Amino acid sequence: MEVFWLRISANNCVNTFPKRKMAEEVGRKKVLIDLADVPQHVRQELESQYELISWPRQGQEEEKEEAEEREEEKGKTKGKRLAECEAIFTYLHPTVDRKLLEKMPRLKVISNHGVGVDHIDAKAATELGIKVGNTPGVLDEATADLTMALLLGSARHVVSASHLTRSGGWDFPSLGCEVTGAVLGIVGMGRIGRQVAKRARCGFDMTILYYNPRSRDVEAETTWQAQYCASLDELLAASDFVSLHCPLIPSTHHLIGAEQLARMKPTATLINVSRGPVVDTEALYQALLRSQIRAAAMDVTDPEPLPASHPLRQLPNAIITPHLGSASDRTRARMAALAIQNLHAGLNDLPLVAQYN
Ligand code: GLV
Repeated sequence: MEVFWLRISANNCVNTFPKRKMAEEVGRKKVLIDLADVPQHVRQELESQYELISWPRQGQEEEKEEAEEREEEKGKTKGKRLAECEAIFTYLHPTVDRKLLEKMPRLKVISNHGVGVDHIDAKAATELGIKVGNTPGVLDEATADLTMALLLGSARHVVSASHLTRSGGWDFPSLGCEVTGAVLGIVGMGRIGRQVAKRARCGFDMTILYYNPRSRDVEAETTWQAQYCASLDELLAASDFVSLHCPLIPSTHHLIGAEQLARMKPTATLINVSRGPVVDTEALYQALLRSQIRAAAMDVTDPEPLPASHPLRQLPNAIITPHLGSASDRTRARMAALAIQNLHAGLNDLPLVAQYN
């Protein structure tokens, strides 16, 4: 009998074609994956071993509907396809909630290409006996590098000065603020925070303050002379630059809101390379609009992407990059290798190289 099924071709298009089910596809483990953003080499590596089940989302609605219609025709519903998958590979941040997990009784592992897993219901996964893998450790330097790029870029008007010269101008109207010797407040002294502290201390002779809600970081204190602040307010009031490096969890949602922004120096700059919802977007917009703080530079926003018409995009004292923290060649290669290792391990009932739950 002829079988129709959805298959992702090498040129990133979703094709359907009538085909006798190829022998090598039979018995292959099925992996649910959102292929829209997955780089070619990652896809090829996965395709060489698994059957990839497409996970259409925003922007692919038409394809999704067409695909579902075709699936219905053949009596093989989307639900059934999900039920066959033994793994999910998440690239970027598609939502993996309990509802989805409950439709996937054969699921053994969710391998996330990235360290933050706030888009995955890890509690539900744990309760359902599903391993969650992520990529800690391999992206700390790249993310810290971008933090420093945003800090320096904002302090010295790099982006707006470049816009000026592009448009034919030369005389820049305002002075930057000094980075060397300034006070940097790190909120969340973890792996990435420590790398930021290292760069700021060794490269720019900055005084490092930090705030961790639960534990002090002896390593950062002894190696980078980081000074512990007993409260977030204390750090906010004393810092020239405040850099956020905490995970997004319920207690860090809107950790920086109107009240916290009001505690910062009017000359201070906020850097966010953690997760968008750690900052209350509207409160930040108002604080920047009224020059309540000097500037903000962020690699993450809430929502993400920020709508094209969002007024925050237009503020002269805001720099926004599109979530590029780990986006360097070697780092992304290391992340892909680790995420694929986690996937293989989970599918073969082995311990993951990096297991989150
Ligand atoms: C990037 O945001 C990551 O979580 O790895």
